[in-house]
Amino acid sequence: MIEILTPAELPRARSAGALVGHVLRTLRSRVSVGTNLLEIDRWARELIAEAGARSCYVDYAPSFGRGPFGHHVCTAVNDAVLHGMPHDHDLVDGDLLTLDLAVVKDGFAADSAVSFLVGETRPRESVALIDATERALAAGIAAARPGARVGDLSHAIGTVLSDAGYAINLEFGGHGIGSTMHQDPHVANAGRPGRGYRLRPGLLLALEPWVMADTDRLVTDADGWTLRSATGCRTAHSEHTIAITEDGAEVLTL
Ligand code: MF3
Ligand code: CO
Repeated sequence: MIEILTPAELPRARSAGALVGHVLRTLRSRVSVGTNLLEIDRWARELIAEAGARSCYVDYAPSFGRGPFGHHVCTAVNDAVLHGMPHDHDLVDGDLLTLDLAVVKDGFAADSAVSFLVGETRPRESVALIDATERALAAGIAAARPGARVGDLSHAIGTVLSDAGYAINLEFGGHGIGSTMHQDPHVANAGRPGRGYRLRPGLLLALEPWVMADTDRLVTDADGWTLRSATGCRTAHSEHTIAITEDGAEVLTL
């Protein structure tokens, strides 16, 4: 399903996006060496409830996970990259943490993820991974406007990731979003320009480049959810929800 929002609905999607941005910023500011991943999940639960919103993850039970996710935020550390299930882990200096959050507020979903280093240590490889996903996300957003095709966005994202030297895994990517979190069209993190669905005003997309330092293969953790790099290398992931407008794209989850 692809939903196109009316101009009257856009403010409601903006409100969902602003909340996701606010919660991710707050969580990031609270995280430090020694923070437990379950503590982050509790903060997310409280912040979402305070705002009168609902987590998209708690009851989420897609074919690629084992049963309902049961948590409010994804916390992926180092080799974990997607669907990181919060567990009893105290963060240590130099950990590369990805927080991924989606909520429904005022009837619309917004989805965003950020990767950052915990503490003072800034391993060069980790900085490069984060930088590549952030630049790829910016390139995808810059390519998004009415009349552009999904392949143009995939190509823009994929070019940045491959120029940075990373092999791209195409199993998971960006997606349409609206009253529910995962909708069509799929936005692969690499692709050919000029192909695919033509963007129009009112379409919401979640763009989400992610990479692994030295592999494009994933393995599923024993928890049935967390996806890790097959080699144990570090990973990064950046995501924003954008709205296609008459003039281009508006980032909703800043
Ligand atoms: N937010 C993720 C995405 O970007 C999906 C996470 S599903 C979860 O599409 F259940 F693991 F939380
Ligand atoms: Co997403």
